[in-house]
Amino acid sequence: MPAKLLVGNWKMNGTRAALPQLAEIAAGAGLVPGVTTVLCPPVTLLAAASALGLATGGQDCHAHPKGAHTGDVSPEMLADTGASYVILGHSERRSDHGETDAMVAAKAEAAWRAGLMAIICIGETEAQNRAGETLAVLARQLERSLPEGTTPANTILAYEPIWAIGTGRTPTEAEIAATHAAIRAHLARHLPNGATIRLLYGGSVNASNAARIFALPDVDGGLVGGASLRAADFLPILHALSGATP
Ligand code: PGA
Repeated sequence: MPAKLLVGNWKMNGTRAALPQLAEIAAGAGLVPGVTTVLCPPVTLLAAASALGLATGGQDCHAHPKGAHTGDVSPEMLADTGASYVILGHSERRSDHGETDAMVAAKAEAAWRAGLMAIICIGETEAQNRAGETLAVLARQLERSLPEGTTPANTILAYEPIWAIGTGRTPTEAEIAATHAAIRAHLARHLPNGATIRLLYGGSVNASNAARIFALPDVDGGLVGGASLRAADFLPILHALSGATP
């Protein structure tokens, strides 16, 4: 059974002044059994975070290894900092930078080429949720964002309802369980060993709801934004995941 996974996504937050927080997270994470903790700080802090002994990941990457792409970072460059994961297709990338499912799939293949584990994000908007379209939207994203060759060894899925990100609102536990079961069934139907691809929940996970969310079936861990910035907020979430029985 693969270890449960907690991924902290710092987004565009943190300068070197935040290194003590990273060090505290690294020290705390080392003490928690049964959970792999991955921190995804801004690219400027990746090497420092890796040097602290944390497993680290980028928040995006380009699909090409190098070239004339001003401002972009290739997966090979992420790997060179010590990173071993990369978040792809986060809804903020999809909305801020117009990333399509096809672009996400190309980036995932690029990530694998560089030896990185792809953490591919999917999720519905509030309007789609209200219209009862969630499962159809997710199925479409799964079909188009996951390249051929997706396996539990190279890819992790993160379900993040867009309306739950940074809002303090989450779906009910029953809704999370039902959606994760549907995603799991889809993966099992369409991919070899798809049923064992790790499936994270993301969107307003915090110290008070983590234990309930992580106890749900088909939730193998979490992708945490705001509450990953401070060790005092993040470490209790890590303990909640460590203690959760699936
Ligand atoms: P949040 O962000 O935990 O701040 O809601 C989650 C994410 O966007 O990955």
